[in-house]
Amino acid sequence: MRQVGREHYGTADAVTLREVPPPDPGPGEVRIRVHGSSVNKGDRLVMTGTPYVMRLALGVRAPRSFGIGQDVAGVVSAVGEGITEWQVGDAVFGEITLGAAWADEALARVDQIARAPTNVPLVEAGSLPVAALTAWQAVVNEGRVEAGSRVVVNGGSGSVGSYAVQLAKASRAHVTAVVRAHHADRARALGADAVVDASSADFTETDRPYDVCIDVAGSVPMSRGLRAVKPDGTYVVVGGPTDDPWLRPLLRPLGWMIRGLFSSRRVAVFVDKVTAERLSELASWVEAGRVTPLFDSRCTLDELPGALAELESGDRRGKILVEVVPSSAARGTPIE
Ligand SMILES: NC(=O)c1ccc[n+]([C@@H]2O[C@H](COP(=O)([O-])OP(=O)(O)OC[C@H]3O[C@@H](n4cnc5c(N)ncnc54)[C@H](OP(=O)(O)O)[C@@H]3O)[C@@H](O)[C@H]2O)c1
Repeated sequence: MRQVGREHYGTADAVTLREVPPPDPGPGEVRIRVHGSSVNKGDRLVMTGTPYVMRLALGVRAPRSFGIGQDVAGVVSAVGEGITEWQVGDAVFGEITLGAAWADEALARVDQIARAPTNVPLVEAGSLPVAALTAWQAVVNEGRVEAGSRVVVNGGSGSVGSYAVQLAKASRAHVTAVVRAHHADRARALGADAVVDASSADFTETDRPYDVCIDVAGSVPMSRGLRAVKPDGTYVVVGGPTDDPWLRPLLRPLGWMIRGLFSSRRVAVFVDKVTAERLSELASWVEAGRVTPLFDSRCTLDELPGALAELESGDRRGKILVEVVPSSAARGTPIE
C-alpha cells in the first residue's frame, strides 16, 4: 500500500510517498481503508518536529515512525482481537493521534472512531475530525455557547476557526468573525452576523464586550484579549503563533491559565481530545445539516507531497482535503 510520511524532520521536501506492507490491527484497533484525510496545522508540526519538546513523543533524533496524518474517514478493512463493535465494511471517521492516516490503509483505536455521517461523501468526512472536534470543544464544551450568546471568533477563517463560526451559528448565537479582509466573504458565507477586519480594526476595543471569545488566531496579548469579554464572560484559548520552535507555543497557554486565576472572566485552555462520543455527536450535527465538511482544495495521495510544498511556499492556501478514494458524488462545501 502507499503511505506518505518522512524519515527525518524538516520542511515539505522531507515528505515522500513510499510502498509499505499494510499494518495489522492489534487489540483495541481496527484497520481502515482510508477514503479521505486532510492536512491540519498539527500534521505540519509533526512533519517538522516542532516545537522540539514534541520530539519526546515523536522520536528525539529522528521520527520513530514514517507516517503522518491524524484525520481519517474510511471503511473498516480488518479488526483486532476482541473487537466486537466494528465489522469489516463499516464506514467510520475519527482521529489517529500523531498518526499515519495519509495512506491507503491506517490503524485507529476504537475509542477514537465513530460511525461516519451518512449524508456527506465519506472522503469529505476526512476534513472533519481534528478541526471540527477542536472547534466543538471550544464552542460547546469550553465556551458553553447557547442561543442568544454574543460570540467573537478571532481567526474565524482557518480550519478550526471556520468550524467554530459554523458551530456557534448552529447554536443560535450572534457571531462576529475576526478575519483578514480577503476572508470576509467566506466568514459571511459560514453564517457570521458581523465581520471585523483583523488588519485594520481591533476587536478588543468594543463598547459592547462579548459573552464568549473563541481565540483561534491568538494574535492579541492577554491584557487586551480579556477586555473583549464581559466581566462574567468566557475567553477560550485555542491556538496561537507556532513559529517559535522552542517553548513559546506552550508557555503562552500557561500564561493564559495563570492570568485566568486573577480575572473574573473564565479563561479556558484545552488540548483537543477525541472520544467516540464526541465524534458521534458531531456526526449527528452533520446529519442534521448544522455542520458541513469544509476544505479549500483537494489532492490525491500521490499529489500530497507537492501540495505540502505549495502550502509551505504560499502557492496554495487553506485546508487541503486528501482524496485517497475519490468520491464522484462530492457534496462538501469548498469554502473559496
Ligand atoms: N487547542 C487545541 O487542541 C488545538 C487543536 C488544533 C489546532 N489548534 C491551534 O489552532 C490554531 C489554528 O489551527 P488551524 O488548523 O485552524 O490553522 P489554519 O487552518 O492555518 O488557520 C489559521 C487561520 O488564522 C488566520 N489568521 C492568522 N493570523 C490572524 C490574525 N492576526 N487575525 C485573524 N486571523 C488570523 C489565518 O488567515 P490568513 O489565511 O489570512 O493567514 C488562517 O485562516 C493553531 O494555532 C493550532 O495550533 C489547537
